[in-house]
Amino acid sequence: MIALDQLRQRFDQAMSGRPEALGWGPGRVNLIGGHVDYNQGLVLPIAIDKGIATALRRRNDKAFNVFSVDLDQRVELAALPTQRIGSFADYLIGVLHELHALGLPQSGWDVLTWGDMPVGGGLSSSAALELSVAMAACAASGFEVDRKQLALACQRAENGFVGMHCGILDQFASAFGLADHALLIDCRSLEHRNVALPQDAFEVAVIDSGVSRKLADSRFNQRRRECEQAARALGVDSLRDASLQMLQNAGIEPLLERRARHIICEIERVRLAVRALEHGDVTHCGELISASHSSLRDDYQVSMEQLDALCQLADGLSGVFGSRLVGGGFGGCTIHLTQRGIFDTLRQRVVEPYSRRFDLKARLMQFTAANGAFSEHCF
Ligand code: GLA
Repeated sequence: MIALDQLRQRFDQAMSGRPEALGWGPGRVNLIGGHVDYNQGLVLPIAIDKGIATALRRRNDKAFNVFSVDLDQRVELAALPTQRIGSFADYLIGVLHELHALGLPQSGWDVLTWGDMPVGGGLSSSAALELSVAMAACAASGFEVDRKQLALACQRAENGFVGMHCGILDQFASAFGLADHALLIDCRSLEHRNVALPQDAFEVAVIDSGVSRKLADSRFNQRRRECEQAARALGVDSLRDASLQMLQNAGIEPLLERRARHIICEIERVRLAVRALEHGDVTHCGELISASHSSLRDDYQVSMEQLDALCQLADGLSGVFGSRLVGGGFGGCTIHLTQRGIFDTLRQRVVEPYSRRFDLKARLMQFTAANGAFSEHCF
């Protein structure tokens, strides 16, 4: 996590003076439940101990100034634009518009953002940024919104302003994460509960494949449309209401059948994974995670050679319970549920041979399940 006193210092260097409030939004790793959130299914993420911090203050005029430490980019505008400007600032602008619509008083802003997680790598840096700026802006203005409304406002910003039609997984995980717990979210009712992780039973390793997720958003939006078409063909509102039997009887177009089969089976795998964790059965949970990857590869077709290779190399090791691609796919990261203490083995037996084979710089990381977003008013 970014140290808050250093965040204040950075703000002072970039914007001269003190911030009014600080916000923190963690990234997330989804243990299982790939691509089911926008099909109203069940997902099981953890919030991680890495994310994005924001320091900000209101201005007396309407200007909007933002500096990203990670990108070393500054955006200075006379007012909050009503159209996207094609920069990282769109996430912040979208969130501020949504908060203004909820009643946050209008003002100009000086904002600094700084993270300690890979940006654009499938660990949800966008939701982390959205939650951290939303939490900080509310704290600065003394504006109270509950976490659910805040998470939904951030999702609307990403869907409507940024144009990425993500589900609610990332924003809910960042808002409601709890240390040492996973978060089971019913993406239809938005009910959610924390699931205790068996103590000391496993570690969560993540490997950034080094393959950038460029163009991933348009393919993600395409998968979303395919699911809507499959639901229509099956005569249900969403694939949450479909069953394998329905699918067998309906005889829908083969491509849509594959997409639907992934969603139907993945929702069931989430249920089984929760049960496995509650019984301390990490081995079975790992098997379900690897089955999720096979389904994302074969039926949902969001994997690629590099992600498959990382999962295959890792799953061949004793001490690895299961592996899958995480996030939207088409590049980004894989997650591995492992016994404790096999970090070096993963580096030697997975990351190094992978990097040589594909001539890519892969990065091995380890995360713990951490608390969700928070803010702090600076007096
Ligand atoms: C992206 C989206 C999420 C979710 C995942 C896939 O991270 O932002 O809403 O759909 O992909 O599980």
